[in-house]
Amino acid sequence: MSKFFDQTQRAQDWSTREGLAKKLEVHQVLESVTATVREANSVSTDMSDHRLDRCRKFLLPRLADGPVLMNHGEANHMAEESYRTLRTRLLRLQATGGIRTVLFSSSVPGEGKTLTTINTALCCTQLHEMRTLVVDGDLRTRGLSKLIGAPSGPGLADILEGRARYEEAILGTDHPNLFALAAGTAVGAPPELFASTQWKEFLGWAGETFKLVLIDAPPILGLSDIDLMAHGCDGVLMVVRANRTKRSLLRKAVATIDPKKNRIVVGDDDSLRATSFEVSGVNWVSIEQPSGPIRAAVKIRHKHEPAAATLQPLDAATARITFDTPQRAITRGQGAVFYDSDRVLGGAWIR
Ligand SMILES: Nc1ncnc2c1ncn2[C@@H]1O[C@H](COP(=O)(O)OP(=O)(O)OP(=O)(O)O)[C@@H](O)[C@H]1O
Ligand SMILES: [Mg+2]
Repeated sequence: MSKFFDQTQRAQDWSTREGLAKKLEVHQVLESVTATVREANSVSTDMSDHRLDRCRKFLLPRLADGPVLMNHGEANHMAEESYRTLRTRLLRLQATGGIRTVLFSSSVPGEGKTLTTINTALCCTQLHEMRTLVVDGDLRTRGLSKLIGAPSGPGLADILEGRARYEEAILGTDHPNLFALAAGTAVGAPPELFASTQWKEFLGWAGETFKLVLIDAPPILGLSDIDLMAHGCDGVLMVVRANRTKRSLLRKAVATIDPKKNRIVVGDDDSLRATSFEVSGVNWVSIEQPSGPIRAAVKIRHKHEPAAATLQPLDAATARITFDTPQRAITRGQGAVFYDSDRVLGGAWIR
């Protein structure tokens, strides 16, 4: 059984360079969710508000010999209990942090993202009015679309490339409250699609239309998709395969853990480092604006030691800073202070 390493909440202050990673809050959820569990035997009455009552429908497959798919009451009970625990944690985060859109990722391929996404969704739809959308966001492997036997036709890629409207691509299922969006057919490369404004627009629409949106995402390491996909999502849930996933790989994908604040940052550690960036609002304190590049020690976070860098003034208010060695977590909007030994030369804002 995969261990659910963590779950996340809407994080306002997490973004590091290019907003690559998320600070995630670890919750120890001890109580059960108070929501009433009922047999979900009717589709929500306000469905027509969202014009989803006219969407295509398909039957989820019964997988007798395949992976444990919690379908038609044939689930393994221990697995079901674990998914319920995860559901409780997600709902708790929804109640406290308002999360709706959650990416399911892992450090490397094959850790159980797809199965965890669909089973968590199935578990959530057992709750009354928990209208849930599962999205196949892994446009390369299309694992979720294959696992649930989604019919061909437009999917996420078609939405992102502007070929399909939401209600044309969303699929209804034989499970009341469960909707699916298959991967579709991508013409462009996935990173470009997730960098588009269509992705954020889609997330905004899905977050308003569904109570929960669970996105089966690619793994973190080796791909840039997750960084782009995480923009606009409320959280990332890391799936870790018990007894298989190497600690070293997980350490690389989960960049830091702050036990005091119960927060973790996910993302490829290498991608959190940068050498060069621009600053604006430059204020020279103890020297006049230099006419050319100068050497200085630059401090970008209060906990960091100043690091050796070259400062190139671009105009009266802006400058380019190039560190000698790559630095972690250079964050837009944060201050940078320039020193010559202990003397403050000036300061600026990272942009
Ligand atoms: N909780 C689990 N217990 C046992 N086996 C599991 C579990 N989750 C997944 N598996 C098995 O592990 C394999 C990979 O699962 P899955 O396709 O969900 O992983 P994935 O992370 O989505 O892979 P990919 O990165 O290729 O998309 C499958 O054979 C699946 O049946
Ligand atoms: Mg998969």
